[in-house]
Amino acid sequence: MKTIALVGFMGSGKTTTGKALAKKLGVQFLDTDQMIEAHTNMSIPQLFNHYGEGYFRELESDIILNYDFNDVIVATGGGIVKREANCEGLKKRFDTVFLQTEFNTILKRLESDASRPLWQQSNKEREELFNTRQQLYLDVSSMIVKTDELTTDEIVQDILSQL
Ligand code: S3P
Repeated sequence: MKTIALVGFMGSGKTTTGKALAKKLGVQFLDTDQMIEAHTNMSIPQLFNHYGEGYFRELESDIILNYDFNDVIVATGGGIVKREANCEGLKKRFDTVFLQTEFNTILKRLESDASRPLWQQSNKEREELFNTRQQLYLDVSSMIVKTDELTTDEIVQDILSQL
């Protein structure tokens, strides 16, 4: 089995699900955003502010394409599919699970979120970004879980049943 990577839009539950899945399987959990924060000693908003999104994307690509993941569950950032090379890497290196969540569910979950730079825009722009990414998530994934009506435990069970 390849390493499992979780993809999906901001607020789709990749980190929460990844942690629960890793616990269930008795393996380590890694989150590309947290790896970047640890590596740079900066928060994602600080990184975007000081160095711009491009620098963040370079670090993100480097991790998803080159890091030696072994016996781990990996949660990715919602924009991981922005770069074609990352999409190829996800297909080649991982069993990728798409946590598919309705835009309205995400709107409710992230209502007052200030930790995601690309969420700090109008609802119309947020939805446009959401729409541009859906097909990309589908393209890189070998498993899909519709998360809206499910608890974290149920999402984990669904993933395990598809492995
Ligand atoms: C981003 C999603 C974030 C984080 C960064 C950019 C995006 O991760 O990587 O703020 O482009 O959608 P989450 O999906 O974990 O919020």
